[in-house]
Amino acid sequence: MAGAFYEEGLTSIHAADYGEVAESGAAMVVQRLARAGLRSGLIVELGCGPGVSARRFVDAGYDVVACDVAQPMVERARALVPEAEITHGDVDDFLWPTSAVAVVAFGEVLSYAMRAEVFDGRVARVVDGARCVLSEGGALVFDLVLAGRAGPRGERHLHHDRRDYELFVDASEDRTQRTLDRFIHGTTRKAPELLIDEHHRQITTDASAIRELLDERGFAVECFGDYNGQPLGATGWGVFFGTKVT
Ligand SMILES: C[S@@+](CC[C@H](N)C(=O)[O-])C[C@H]1O[C@@H](n2cnc3c(N)ncnc32)[C@H](O)[C@@H]1O
Repeated sequence: MAGAFYEEGLTSIHAADYGEVAESGAAMVVQRLARAGLRSGLIVELGCGPGVSARRFVDAGYDVVACDVAQPMVERARALVPEAEITHGDVDDFLWPTSAVAVVAFGEVLSYAMRAEVFDGRVARVVDGARCVLSEGGALVFDLVLAGRAGPRGERHLHHDRRDYELFVDASEDRTQRTLDRFIHGTTRKAPELLIDEHHRQITTDASAIRELLDERGFAVECFGDYNGQPLGATGWGVFFGTKVT
């Protein structure tokens, strides 16, 4: 990702206020692995952010190997989960271990790409990588930005005025290019001199395309509207839970 991307200001906001997806994702994975009899082993986490889910995995008895492309995220994750092996690097350069019980990417990690071909290639490689390392019954779990995320007009403007920070997010979606651009501006009260000024581009997809890909590669697929198991809705966000069956 070119330019500012999860620098210190935005990272601190994410760490303080946006842990819900990582918490509920980790809870879902731990519960289902236990049900499958996989109560220990290695979990691969792509885009671990500040380490909230990695912490849950380690506390539940798993080993964790993780990566994240943003250095401030990596520093927080290493401090929160010293037991995990966390590298600073891109998902696209990730060195896969030889075996794992789960591969996860919570918080739209795989959706961050400048072009649709990059996203499509990455998702296919992650699915193939997971297929190689997972034991039977192991899980590949991620969530993605789906087409229609910015609503029917393709634009959305948000303003968060919180005790610890103020954030403006202007999002626009191009349904032809499959891009979702988010321009994020703001400040934190703790360090107002560190202006947040980031552009995040994500690529949208259709749930059916991801379902087909997972199915083709030997995963039993379930799609949800969140990590608490709600049915997939029209929110422009989808959770994909693949269980390796063959
Ligand atoms: C919305 S945050 C989610 C973080 C964490 N998984 C969570 O749920 O709290 C997205 C994360 O993906 C990371 N990320 C985005 N693109 C990445 C890439 N190509 N390789 C590795 N990490 C990436 C970002 O640095 C950021 O930490």
